[in-house]
Amino acid sequence: MTTLLAALIAVWLFTLGPYRTVELPQAVASAEPPLLGVFEGDAPVVDGADWPRRRELLLNALAQHVYGPAPPERAAHVASRSPIPAAEAGGVERVEQWEVEVEGAGRFNLVLVLPPQQQDSAPVIIMQNFCGNRAAFPGRPAAIAAPLRYYPIPCRSGAFDPLHRAFFGRWMLGPPFERIGARGYAVAMFYGGDIIPDYAPDARPALDALAGPDAGAVSAWAWLHARVVDVLSEDPRFDARRMIAWGQSRYGKIALLAAARDARIAAIVAMQSGRAGDALTTHRAGESVRNIARVYPHWLSPRFAEYAARNPPVDQHQLLALLAPRPVLLGWARRDGWSDPAGAFIAAQSARPAFELLGAPAPEHYFRGGGHGVEDADWEATLDFLDRRIGG
Ligand code: GCU
Repeated sequence: MTTLLAALIAVWLFTLGPYRTVELPQAVASAEPPLLGVFEGDAPVVDGADWPRRRELLLNALAQHVYGPAPPERAAHVASRSPIPAAEAGGVERVEQWEVEVEGAGRFNLVLVLPPQQQDSAPVIIMQNFCGNRAAFPGRPAAIAAPLRYYPIPCRSGAFDPLHRAFFGRWMLGPPFERIGARGYAVAMFYGGDIIPDYAPDARPALDALAGPDAGAVSAWAWLHARVVDVLSEDPRFDARRMIAWGQSRYGKIALLAAARDARIAAIVAMQSGRAGDALTTHRAGESVRNIARVYPHWLSPRFAEYAARNPPVDQHQLLALLAPRPVLLGWARRDGWSDPAGAFIAAQSARPAFELLGAPAPEHYFRGGGHGVEDADWEATLDFLDRRIGG
């Protein structure tokens, strides 16, 4: 009986369910609402000088209908800096741990991994992680802080780490630090749950205090990216003109929003960011609006749930357009229907006019085999893209 049930679930997963194979469409019509045409009564955008006006309008519409407002500007400073010897960091060289204090919001831990020999001006990849900073290092070293607040249950013990890696790829819990360093990039990594727990009952009060009842956690975590840019920009070892937002899945949604709001971010890599990430809401494939609003009610503005039944007045191609003219890489996987690669492809195509308007190359994408997760190929694609577009 159990075997039969397991077999049925497996068949469902790989045929109709989240692991079914998806293909990208051949030709696509541009998504609605129009990007440069009349939008919310605003006159068409005809040249680059009109873009800042449209940009503001799109940011507001996304805040109103999808993410909720950004928390207000708050000063951030580094409260402590501790170098961690490789022997205490799972063998990873040149690690530092900073405690970052954000006025009125609390503290979070930021882990930095510097490239070998680099003295100053390293481009830096800013990213979050799923199970906290400690779990991102080999052997979960005690010297690297564990999350300060909510800790997802499957992350609490290292016993699940092999399963995480088996299902979601070798680099699901943390990036290949050495490989990234060898290509000349630093990593700045944090766990957003230190400030806003990724758990609805605890997230809501924290969000209410920080940004009010309409704010979602994606918006607040994206705002933390900006606080990381604040503190890194003051350290000459990092190149303030080459700050990169990187994220996969929920963290891909966050990287996109962080960069849409913050012009200091020079390049964006978002992998399998799906619903409320790079996939068009109106494409209606993969994860539904109803699902994300029910299972993760704290992630987005409560208003977003209304678009389960009708189309939203703003869509994700308009979010991608806000990244122009910067280099963008979107990553998708063939067996990741949940993240709706086809809906993301249409969004990326529909965002192109903004990049053309600003004289910049269109967003790049790559589509690998396999499922949702972070594999070697994802980091190779990331580093090749960054070398090509901003230089390691
Ligand atoms: C869930 C969720 C997605 C999200 C993903 C992740 O699958 O439905 O929207 O992207 O978690 O962050 O891994």
